[in-house]
Amino acid sequence: MPDDDIDRARRRFLQTTGAGATLILAGCSAFDSDSDETPTDTQEETNPSESETDDPPESPSGQVEQLDAYPRVKIASVSELSTGDVIEFEYPLQEQSNFLTRLGEQAWDGVGPDGDIVAFNAMCTHAGCSVSGSVEPEDSRAGPCPCHYTSFDLSKGGLVNMGQATSDLPQIDLEVDGGDIYATYVEGLVWGYHNNLRTGTPIEAAQSN
Ligand code: FES
Repeated sequence: MPDDDIDRARRRFLQTTGAGATLILAGCSAFDSDSDETPTDTQEETNPSESETDDPPESPSGQVEQLDAYPRVKIASVSELSTGDVIEFEYPLQEQSNFLTRLGEQAWDGVGPDGDIVAFNAMCTHAGCSVSGSVEPEDSRAGPCPCHYTSFDLSKGGLVNMGQATSDLPQIDLEVDGGDIYATYVEGLVWGYHNNLRTGTPIEAAQSN
């Protein structure tokens, strides 16, 4: 081959291999030479949606039952409830004790023809003693609590009248349908619970037994 042809062939070879080396180096720079991790591995390790969950921890016994939503449970009939009556019931879990009463005066979130039928959780918000034995409908009051004398105003959403409690008594949302009174929701946290729907047996399960 003539010398000119040999020189042209060498230059073409060097240009070709030089471009290839540049591409190889660019490709290598996308990876950490000291790690076996690929970019996909790193994303999977730091993705919080796969490593975290909203579920609360189970109880130490592991015997946790729960509701996904508040049930609608019949408590009484309007026609059978006279002013001053007090009916105790559990809702939404067993051992979550509540009381329903007819005050004879219109109340916040009261139902019935006179808006005077209300229900509340019975666990005092100070330290959890029950006030179900000290409900006084004629005074629109629950209390004084037998433990430390807090009393709650049943016509004003369970507002603390006096005593050591600092939170209102949780009110039970009621609904009247066809003359029947249903519990549908709990306003506020029941004393001693992190979630009103967890760590207990749903009351519907108890009623079906
Ligand atoms: S538990 Fe009711 S006032 Fe303390």
